[in-house]
Amino acid sequence: MTSPLSVDVGGVRLRNPVLVASGTFGAGLEAVEQGVDLAAIGGVVTKSVTTQPRAGNPPPRICETASGMLNSIGIMNPGVDGFLAEIMPRFAALPCARVVNVAGESAEDFEILVGRFDAVDGCDAIELNVSCPNVSGGLDFGIDVHLLESLVRGCRARTRKPLWVKLTPNVTDVVPLARAAVAGGADALALTNTFLGMAVDWRRRLPRLGSKTGAGGLSGPAIKPLALHAVFKVARAVDVPIVGIGGIRDADDAMEFIVAGATAVQVGTSNFTDPAAAVDVADQLAAFVREGLFADLASVRKTLVVPRPHA
Ligand SMILES: Cc1cc2nc3c(=O)[nH]c(=O)nc-3n(C[C@H](O)[C@H](O)[C@H](O)COP(=O)(O)O)c2cc1C
Repeated sequence: MTSPLSVDVGGVRLRNPVLVASGTFGAGLEAVEQGVDLAAIGGVVTKSVTTQPRAGNPPPRICETASGMLNSIGIMNPGVDGFLAEIMPRFAALPCARVVNVAGESAEDFEILVGRFDAVDGCDAIELNVSCPNVSGGLDFGIDVHLLESLVRGCRARTRKPLWVKLTPNVTDVVPLARAAVAGGADALALTNTFLGMAVDWRRRLPRLGSKTGAGGLSGPAIKPLALHAVFKVARAVDVPIVGIGGIRDADDAMEFIVAGATAVQVGTSNFTDPAAAVDVADQLAAFVREGLFADLASVRKTLVVPRPHA
């Protein structure tokens, strides 16, 4: 019998729909050391991996705002060779779905990365970060329908593993980009990444973040309504599963994304306050089923009633 919470996200079977989001949980290794039970969640998505090691942006890289957290980490990571040597063996042993997120500055970078992880056991799916607002080049793919479709098509040709495309919300309308990613061969879409923003220390006439542009990505509960709207619109425009991301703190938040059309969700910023946040969300979802709030996820997915959804 399948569990009422198990889902299939573009070819990846998850025991429940709760994953942790890229960049907010490392590769899950520290959480394991802290005793977080990753067998209780659906999966871990790694920090973005790039072709070369990256030192990241100058500090400060994180800034609290009145509503939400701004970051400009700049994709600090050991590069694909370092990841495969130092992290992959322990990542592959995690007791949940293992999704590797990759980011490139060129189409060739993306294809190389996808090819490398296609060849590796212990990587169940590849998520393309075409949306990181801190690296020039990556941004271009996520905001241009033609570039995005051709990027995804090139990556598709390099792997038979499930390919998820994580979209940027920093566009006028995310729906054409979602369609382009699906046309290129995406098995699932993840949305959203962070929203570009800025914090200012006016007395010093300086941005509060150290990135070159002064900008960073806003995340946390502040972006939940924006991400929900994006998921709602995209779920009505494409037929592939959607992974909802943005400000999720508890199972009610997760269910809001699911009724709006998401098949699964990722918990990001909440991990910084509690590394077991995703475990709690998954446990609460199981409690919802026990309480009889719904029988299984398929029966509630995309059931949000809006009088005129396209008006
Ligand atoms: C500190 C930090 C680092 C992040 N790094 C990445 C990254 O490397 N790749 C990526 O695709 N998304 C990255 N993200 C975006 C998150 O995965 C997620 O899409 C976003 O934070 C929205 O979810 P949340 O509101 O639950 O945090 C990062 C977010 C934060 C806060």
